[in-house]
Amino acid sequence: MRQFKEDFPLLRQSDLVYLDSAATAQRPDAVLAAEREFYEKYNANPLRGLYELGMEATDRYEAARDCVRDFLHAEDSAEIIFTRNTTESINLVAYSYGLTHLKTGDEILVTIDSHHSNLLPWQMVARQTGATLRYLDCEQDGAYEVKDMMAAVTPQTKLAAVTHVSNVTGRLDPIEAIIRLVHEQGGVVLVDAAQSAPHMPIDVQELDADFLAFSGHKLMAPMGIGVLYGKKALLEDMPPFLSGGEMIDSVSRFDAVYAPLPHKFEAGTVNGGGAVALQAAIEYMEGIGWREINKQEELLTEMAMGEMKRIPGVHLIGSTDPKKHHGIISFTIDDVHPHDIASILDADKIAVRAGHHCAQPLLQHLGVMSTARASIAFYNTEKDIDRFIKSVKEIRRRMGYGE
Ligand SMILES: Cc1ncc(COP(=O)(O)O)c(C=O)c1O
Repeated sequence: MRQFKEDFPLLRQSDLVYLDSAATAQRPDAVLAAEREFYEKYNANPLRGLYELGMEATDRYEAARDCVRDFLHAEDSAEIIFTRNTTESINLVAYSYGLTHLKTGDEILVTIDSHHSNLLPWQMVARQTGATLRYLDCEQDGAYEVKDMMAAVTPQTKLAAVTHVSNVTGRLDPIEAIIRLVHEQGGVVLVDAAQSAPHMPIDVQELDADFLAFSGHKLMAPMGIGVLYGKKALLEDMPPFLSGGEMIDSVSRFDAVYAPLPHKFEAGTVNGGGAVALQAAIEYMEGIGWREINKQEELLTEMAMGEMKRIPGVHLIGSTDPKKHHGIISFTIDDVHPHDIASILDADKIAVRAGHHCAQPLLQHLGVMSTARASIAFYNTEKDIDRFIKSVKEIRRRMGYGE
């Protein structure tokens, strides 16, 4: 098995077993170096300075956008908007598209496995426009049934906000089918790709997604850079989300002419360092290749789940098939609160997440209050999984229960 830990300063400097990559990934040297290089060699305000350094900063920033365009297989760089994160990207669509296009009688459809970031903006739009918020529920293993999808999409479905990969079950949702159904009814679809972008190639044209959002920090880029893809015709028709500097062509006392795409949606000084580092992250991952990344992650997930299934009192959330988890393993242990699971693992220098994972409606639907979640990335090792399993096996005993 190939080893990648050496590429990550935080991981090579400690014996921490980091199993929380679904919350935020670790950053490799190449990403840290790219951000540093931007500030050391090209630091000027992108899109503003007309002098050579300013133009270089702009060129780097726009090259990062072109890289994201290719990463998502979008047609045009104007369709790539830099934001802070998935949450901001979804809010952009909610405020700019949702509030201006939806009305009483319309329906907004969300998948039950949505992260709160892809839920609260739609609750807000429903409240403010009078549209109805509807849910597409999944089965206990996280799968969606075709009959439920057919019933959930109606002629009133004007917008569907769907999760690509669940941050709780790790399940890949059937977004192609949902997109097709919603398009047949004349609605638009936003895809939350926060958990899929780090694990698989995405082709927005093949998916025919109208909007798609992801965060750089889950993809090994720095925190504070995210992406919204939107079809050009839709974005052109939408008002700005934030307004101020950078996003205008001209301003008079009482009016303004907005800049063309994508800058209409990038008000204020942009995150130049974050954008170039996102490009470095994409290039780093593509350098390794999806096949290799998936092979490592699947192997480690299979290894972990295979062992966990045999531990008395341990219950896995979602599918029993490791291939359907995309590195995400949520679990509970009889009589042990997930916060205690995380604390005991922390004492063994193993980092996992515990709680509701910002997906409370899904957990309610699945009948659990909270879970522990181990999330695996390709830089994890078999040794990491061995240590994790060894500790999980001992948790009930360490909490004072028998075997
Ligand atoms: C599926 C999903 N959507 C959205 C988000 C929100 O991402 P961010 O906090 O980077 O905006 C997350 C974060 O965990 C997520 O897992």
